Amino acid sequence: MAEALRVGIAGLGTVGASVARVLRDKAAELTRQCGREIVVTAVSARDRSRDRGIDLGGAQWFDDPIAMAEKADIDVFVELIGGNEGAARACVRAALDAGRHVVTANKALLAKHGVALAEIAEKKGVLLNYEAAVAGGIPVIKTMREALAGNSVNRVFGILNGTCNYILTRMEAEGLSFEECLKDAQRLGYAEADPTFDIEGNDTAHKLAILTSLAFGTEIAADDIYLEGISNISQADIRAAGELGYRIKLLGVAQRTETGIEQRVHPTMVPTASVIAQVHGVTNAVAIETDILGELLLSGPGAGGNATASAVVGDIADIAKSRPGFQHGPVFGRPAKELKPYKKAQMRSHAGGYFIRLTVHDRIGVFAAIAKRMADADISLESIVQHANGSNGVDQKTVILVTHETTEAAVRKAVDGMTKDGHLTDKPQVIRIERAD
Ligand SMILES: NC(=O)c1ccc[n+]([C@@H]2O[C@H](COP(=O)([O-])OP(=O)(O)OC[C@H]3O[C@@H](n4cnc5c(N)ncnc54)[C@H](OP(=O)(O)O)[C@@H]3O)[C@@H](O)[C@H]2O)c1
Repeated sequence: MAEALRVGIAGLGTVGASVARVLRDKAAELTRQCGREIVVTAVSARDRSRDRGIDLGGAQWFDDPIAMAEKADIDVFVELIGGNEGAARACVRAALDAGRHVVTANKALLAKHGVALAEIAEKKGVLLNYEAAVAGGIPVIKTMREALAGNSVNRVFGILNGTCNYILTRMEAEGLSFEECLKDAQRLGYAEADPTFDIEGNDTAHKLAILTSLAFGTEIAADDIYLEGISNISQADIRAAGELGYRIKLLGVAQRTETGIEQRVHPTMVPTASVIAQVHGVTNAVAIETDILGELLLSGPGAGGNATASAVVGDIADIAKSRPGFQHGPVFGRPAKELKPYKKAQMRSHAGGYFIRLTVHDRIGVFAAIAKRMADADISLESIVQHANGSNGVDQKTVILVTHETTEAAVRKAVDGMTKDGHLTDKPQVIRIERAD
């Protein structure tokens, strides 16, 4: 049997501790699958005295993950610290420089420094595996990098943040407010004490940036993503969406357009009957549309110790199965130096249907003014619904417009015009409608 694969784990928190546990509990099965043992020989975290509920056997302890990356007797360095700078970046770099394979779950790091790190890995002839960085336990990186070879991707989109999907699912199912659902998510450990990163879409954006690079062969451009979170989604939007046959999801969408690649993260209306609309709670899903295969939807657990460890262990097992001299595939599906510069599409020209919810003064002429603004912007309407605003709406009503396919620029022009007309009593809500089967 080949020599054991020696693994060093930096970070023994939710994911790191689960990885150590799975490698120990499944040692015999992994040895059968990989043709060699996988042994944790080194570990690093901040607090050595903390009881992590795991048996680390004879693994050597390092206070400093960079020293572990440089000096430990390891073949694979597993980074599970997190963050796009500081210790995580420095130790991954040090491990690659030292010619060690790296496995990471760190989307923030890859979204910012992925291409530079891929160049080092490829120069050194080592693997940089990151399955767990996007959609946790769902094997989407492997699918895009390996199983879809030869396919051209036209669009990739998905529910990439379990916290947001949990909040939107409960808002719809139980009629609760955004704030109530967020509090519950925090109590249950689905949301951080500071939830900004999740609910404002940044976490989804990091994952989307990685998928975009894999899908379109472009450099990662995490800063060029249109970003809108879910914090201003109200019960009124959820109810109106339901009445119109839609459900609201926070989607990350990347697609090829005539003007470049469009990357956007925002609340989106998807048809209630579509497969992606059936993805509830903390579950994640990724849809990939290609020229050869058609549409593929992968769904499953996107976070949590075990689900994420499953992806990390899969990446380690791939390294255990590879042999010296074996030509490793490039990190982002093509050699890092051959990734094309990212060409951003003009977001304001995004084409699709739109949901527009307006709160307006209940007076003569308002309806006609709205219709005129839509016509002036060349927008044709699929439906228009008015609601009286209940007891506090003595002189207010809600108008909901659903447009046929139009552009972002046209919608902005119409909404800006309506705002100028002085008929609106509140900020208009505009939500894109996404085509989904
Ligand atoms: N949690 C999930 O569901 C999930 C899902 C997908 C991807 N990820 C990614 O997985 C990574 C780890 O997440 P996590 O949830 O496991 O984080 P976590 O529970 O906060 O654990 C972080 C670990 O890193 C250690 N650490 C922090 N700074 C360090 C330093 N300077 N040197 C050495 N060790 C250091 C901590 O040590 P102490 O324990 O001693 O404090 C802790 O063990 C992140 O990149 C995250 O984005 C997580």
